[in-house]
Amino acid sequence: MCGIVGYVGSRDAAPILIKGLKRLEYRGYDSAGIALISEGLDVYKKKGKVSELEAILEKEVNLNSHIGIGHTRWATHGEPNDSNAHPHYSASGNLAIIHNGIIENYSALKKDLINKGHVFLSDTDSEVLIHFIEDIWLHEKCSLEEAVRLALTKVVGAYAIVIISKEHSNQLIAARKGSPLVIGIGQGEFFIASDASPIIEYTNEVVYLNDYEIALIKDNELTIRTVEDISSTPYIQTLELSLESIEKGGYEHFMLKEIFEQPNSIKDSMRGRINLESGEVILGGLRQYMNKLVNAKRIIFIGCGTSWHAGLVAEYIFEDLTRIPVEVEYASEFRYRNPIISEEDVVIAISQSGETADTLAAIELAKSKGAIILGVCNVVGSSIARATHGGAYLHAGPEIGVASTKAFTSQVTVLIMMALAIARKKGTISESKFMEILVDLNNIPAKVSRILSSNAKIELLAKDFKDSKNFLYLGRGYNFPVALEGALKLKEISYIHAEGYPAAEMKHGPIALIDAEMPVVVIAIQDNSYEKVVSNIQEVKARKGKVIAIITEGDTEIPKMADYVLEIPNASAILKPLLTVIPLQLLSYHIAVMRGCNVDQPRNLAKSVTVE
Ligand code: G6P
Repeated sequence: MCGIVGYVGSRDAAPILIKGLKRLEYRGYDSAGIALISEGLDVYKKKGKVSELEAILEKEVNLNSHIGIGHTRWATHGEPNDSNAHPHYSASGNLAIIHNGIIENYSALKKDLINKGHVFLSDTDSEVLIHFIEDIWLHEKCSLEEAVRLALTKVVGAYAIVIISKEHSNQLIAARKGSPLVIGIGQGEFFIASDASPIIEYTNEVVYLNDYEIALIKDNELTIRTVEDISSTPYIQTLELSLESIEKGGYEHFMLKEIFEQPNSIKDSMRGRINLESGEVILGGLRQYMNKLVNAKRIIFIGCGTSWHAGLVAEYIFEDLTRIPVEVEYASEFRYRNPIISEEDVVIAISQSGETADTLAAIELAKSKGAIILGVCNVVGSSIARATHGGAYLHAGPEIGVASTKAFTSQVTVLIMMALAIARKKGTISESKFMEILVDLNNIPAKVSRILSSNAKIELLAKDFKDSKNFLYLGRGYNFPVALEGALKLKEISYIHAEGYPAAEMKHGPIALIDAEMPVVVIAIQDNSYEKVVSNIQEVKARKGKVIAIITEGDTEIPKMADYVLEIPNASAILKPLLTVIPLQLLSYHIAVMRGCNVDQPRNLAKSVTVE
């Protein structure tokens, strides 16, 4: 959370910073600010979105500068207001900092600094950090980069920081621990950002900073030292990201674009990994760990939010196909409950961003107990991808809408391929079933396209429910986690209270909520619990609830009892979550748009949650 960006070179810095912040706004949008060095060191900041900052900058006449830093905030310490917005000045006003993360020992540091006479203008931990750095700098009479290093040896917590100094108009200092930072290397210019999206149109040569590294960009040169003062050689990588993939491409919102990208993103997740002729699933990043997986006593999936839901789908699939016992845990719970993990367990961390703080901490814990950790991440080179022993990328392309859509379907696709590969090697799946699922998986993108063609119908349906106060989502088996995901999507972007339940649990509580005002979305596809779900629909109807049923194409029974039906094509049972989730994504999207909500940047949320 929080997006940070920096520039030094010969171009005009302000427009680069603003454009970069807009690309990073998915990481937080409580306030935005930039600092530029021209005659002095000037900070401009404002509560609200980057567009509000832009509006105040339009009134400024002198923004000429070739060096600057920018920040878009997701508030942790201190409410979202102008003074808590970044950048923050040091005590003398000669330094400015942008920070993503949390300094956990900030209050002890602040107390010491206040005793020394420091006055703070904000409630943030970040302002404390820059005061602390300057205090060391003045006291030790060392270089600024050395002062940063010394300060960081005393800091507890997570950070990605960039610092500029009035006295050094060609220098940026950046450091990271636990929050991502990428440095773009251009011709006589450097870019720094939380991810590569602000950098890609200028250069595709990048260096990913590692934890505990401090980068000094000075006089057109990049040097890296660690917090322990060991020099490290920058490893330059070439980005494969394209500019089009991070733009809206004619869609009104990123979320809609990403929903519609799913036939392709699912295809991309499978590309080169399934071979129908030889009947093979090839996941290169797992090859080395295949025996470990096949012989695992237990598989534990960890993740947060939508990624946790993908883990729940995987639980059903893995246990069914591989006969390996599976547990699915919220990373945030796992990390604090002294879990029993052995070297015979395999932990699979699922994360779109690859940066979620709780998931990263859970990985470190499992690693310390000797388990093999595999990652299922979307962002290449992300912290989780690097912290795990091996894994499989989603290759779904950048997901920018805060509510996850295409990452979910790609996560499920990758997890299905993993389960198939393990089951085959383990001999827990028959050859005919393996081939049947593989062929069917290959046909999923076309089936998703078919569902997407009912977008207009779903939009019409959304009109009838845009003013609902509550929603219930029901599903069973493989589709129970989809009910959770449908409810989460609606909550996240439309602010309507929604709950997902296993359909059979309805009678143990939620049924008490049902009246004529309660829409109930029921995933009622033809599978082995079809009859039971039909009974649930009747129970809802008997209490005058409004039923929106997701049904299998050609079903003639449910349309007779449900108020609304949305059809999905038939598929193998384990693949159906890839289909049933699509109408739920579209329904949430349209309801949110009709309620005037900002679907790409819902209130209080951020896409990449790099704090606990
Ligand atoms: C945030 C996002 C969710 C996401 C969750 C986990 O809450 O808003 O969309 O599912 O984090 O993120 P990850 O990147 O680890 O999948």
